[in-house]
Amino acid sequence: MGVRVLLTEEQIQARIRELGAEIGADYPEGPLYLVCILKGACFFLADLARAVPRDVLIEFMGISSYGKGKSSSGEVRVTKDLDASLEDAHVIVVEDIVDSGITLHYLVHVLGQRRPRSLKVAALLDKPDRRLRPVEVAYTGFQIPDEFVVGYGLDYGERYRNLRDVCVLVDE
Ligand code: PRP
Repeated sequence: MGVRVLLTEEQIQARIRELGAEIGADYPEGPLYLVCILKGACFFLADLARAVPRDVLIEFMGISSYGKGKSSSGEVRVTKDLDASLEDAHVIVVEDIVDSGITLHYLVHVLGQRRPRSLKVAALLDKPDRRLRPVEVAYTGFQIPDEFVVGYGLDYGERYRNLRDVCVLVDE
């Protein structure tokens, strides 16, 4: 398999700086948790957290809805839970991509039960054409077409996560 660049490192970083400024302006006070959904969102979390010009707290949650293939199994599983209670805190769920929406729909439900003061979603990539469940994404990096993407955290069979660009997988 080869790759074709869809979003360059520069485009990604410029957009994250904008999102960080927007988040900084939207949350003037109170604890703000950025909840990184493993594994794909780890690079986005790291860059977004540093682009927000205020104090943030970071947490990690493991969720798996995909097997080794390219499409969702439709089953969502918690593989690692949070270390902190989110009660009374502002919370932003940080995802690399919203595809069918099944994962986030489930997560918003699960995290909403922990009584945060507010709960929003930030996703670097959004494939609106693929949506099966409704999800409100407050901070979107890029809307992308329905192509299988890898890089900047996104994998295919656990490979390609460390590419700096977001790329489309192509048959050679
Ligand atoms: C990916 C991605 C989202 C989910 C989006 O995670 O990080 O969590 O799929 O798809 P959906 O909108 O169709 O639910 P994945 O399960 O591949 O785990 P990973 O981040 O560890 O690769």
